[in-house]
Amino acid sequence: MTTTLTNPIACWQEKYLTGNLQVDRQHQQIFEIVNALHEAVVARESIYRLQELLEYLATHTIEHFQSEESLMMAVDYPDYDRHKQNHDRLLSVVDSLLLQIHDCHTVTITTDITQFLTDWLTHHIKGEDRKMIHFLQNRAYSALCSNPN
Ligand SMILES: [Fe+2]
Ligand SMILES: [Fe+2]
Repeated sequence: MTTTLTNPIACWQEKYLTGNLQVDRQHQQIFEIVNALHEAVVARESIYRLQELLEYLATHTIEHFQSEESLMMAVDYPDYDRHKQNHDRLLSVVDSLLLQIHDCHTVTITTDITQFLTDWLTHHIKGEDRKMIHFLQNRAYSALCSNPN
């Protein structure tokens, strides 16, 4: 998706890096989609454009959450359930917006929603995601040390 944004709400910063290349790329892509959605809300773009962006956000977020959940399952991550519940809660917010469009052909999206998405993402990445990737890296390091050959 290539969009020139004049007023991004989700500004990527180095402190959001987890150390896992795939996860970091997916996070950056989700930031871009949130920014495009924010721009569309501010510009009062059509419901079709909002729907397109929400569907794009849902697709990429589901894909990203599945990647993280697979990583967690592969190492029996002890905090898997809570982490997945957080993912599911975010998806239910996006789902409810899409349902509104499908059922009522209207949607109430304000900058409060794009601010909520930004706050959720930055908080979740800095806390849960970084903690989870750190655990994975420690596991990989321990495995390497206990089996140097
Ligand atoms: Fe996560
Ligand atoms: Fe994440």
